[in-house]
Amino acid sequence: MSPRHATAIHYRLASPDDALAIGRLARRVTRRWILPEQPASAAAALLYGMSARVIRKKILAGQRFHLAWQEDGRLAGVAAMRDDCHLFQFFVSTRMHGRGIARQLWRRAMRDAVRRAGTRRFTLNASAMAVPVYRCFGFVDSGLPTVSQSGLVTQPMQLERH
Ligand SMILES: CC(C)(COP(=O)(O)OP(=O)(O)OC[C@H]1O[C@@H](n2cnc3c(N)ncnc32)[C@H](O)[C@@H]1OP(=O)(O)O)[C@@H](O)C(=O)NCCC(=O)NCCS
Repeated sequence: MSPRHATAIHYRLASPDDALAIGRLARRVTRRWILPEQPASAAAALLYGMSARVIRKKILAGQRFHLAWQEDGRLAGVAAMRDDCHLFQFFVSTRMHGRGIARQLWRRAMRDAVRRAGTRRFTLNASAMAVPVYRCFGFVDSGLPTVSQSGLVTQPMQLERH
């Protein structure tokens, strides 16, 4: 069996009790892949949104966190959707990259939003690293790169379902 398929992955929606594991994964992957390409000023606000407390509140408020779990109980990935149309967190554990986990998470998050709200247009603000991945999913640039108040640079993208 190739390493790509060696680990079975289970997918499910998050409950508030998952907030700690989600926050740990999100902050770890963000430090490794996103912060090095951003100005230092962007780190605090970005990481704050990934604290367990904030994530727990978001889950309780009805935002949809789709999770990918390894067989041994470790969290492998998360895709979080706001208002059934805006993907605002998307992380896969570094050692699990390139195995199709993001593709599966996106498929589940999109189907869930379409089922719940009939969503036709999805939006997100992409890190530089993730832009080619989102293009594989059918997203296109929806404007020039934007800079947040804290200095975070992202590429706005959208996907229209026809
Ligand atoms: C972006 C990220 C979630 C992708 O996770 P992943 O599980 O490795 O992605 P997958 O293996 O499911 O690949 C998804 C698709 O993107 C393609 N892809 C992956 N990396 C790519 C790259 N560097 N360049 C081009 N295409 C790429 C794959 O071929 C696949 O396409 P396919 O389904 O048509 O075959 C992961 O790299 C990550 O966590 N990055 C750091 C955090 C980050 O930047 N998150 C986005 C915040 S906006």
